[in-house]
Amino acid sequence: MASVHSDSFERPWSALDMAAHTLRDVCFGIDTDGRLAAFVIISCAADQAEVLTIATAKAARRQGLARRLLEGVIPQLQKHGAAELFLEVAEDNTAALALYKTSGFQPIGRRPGYYRRTAGRMGAITFSKKL
Ligand SMILES: CC(C)(COP(=O)(O)OP(=O)(O)OC[C@H]1O[C@@H](n2cnc3c(N)ncnc32)[C@H](O)[C@@H]1OP(=O)(O)O)[C@@H](O)C(=O)NCCC(=O)NCCS
Repeated sequence: MASVHSDSFERPWSALDMAAHTLRDVCFGIDTDGRLAAFVIISCAADQAEVLTIATAKAARRQGLARRLLEGVIPQLQKHGAAELFLEVAEDNTAALALYKTSGFQPIGRRPGYYRRTAGRMGAITFSKKL
């Protein structure tokens, strides 16, 4: 998970971070050729769930894996009692914005300057989807 994450984000999470998430959150992944190719981490609290991160290894992108993750994880979230799934995405992340818009998420808000980047701050769009 840490390896796929470091392929995908400016501030990667460590293997230790990932181990902690596997203990407390819903972690769902897809293997290709025996290697983890994509995963999502979702926290659940009461009837709400939130995507903490989602990533596909560079070599496995545009093969429908992230869409399969977002659809395939829903039964697990429902088992945890979740009725709605939330997430935040940077305003300039065109790939992720397209993924969410075509996976049944609706934009519900904007958080200016939400992400800190080496090159400055970037706003976020909040999306939600009823499960
Ligand atoms: C965003 C990300 C998870 C998408 O993963 P993926 O497995 O390649 O996505 P999928 O193949 O399931 O794509 C599903 C849809 O998303 C959209 N999409 C995905 N990548 C896209 C891109 N580079 N440009 C435009 N649209 C894109 C398309 O609508 C696509 O459907 P289509 O291929 O039928 O046109 C991946 O690009 C990634 O890991 N990026 C870095 C990490 C990241 O930004 N995570 C999201 C943080 S909010």
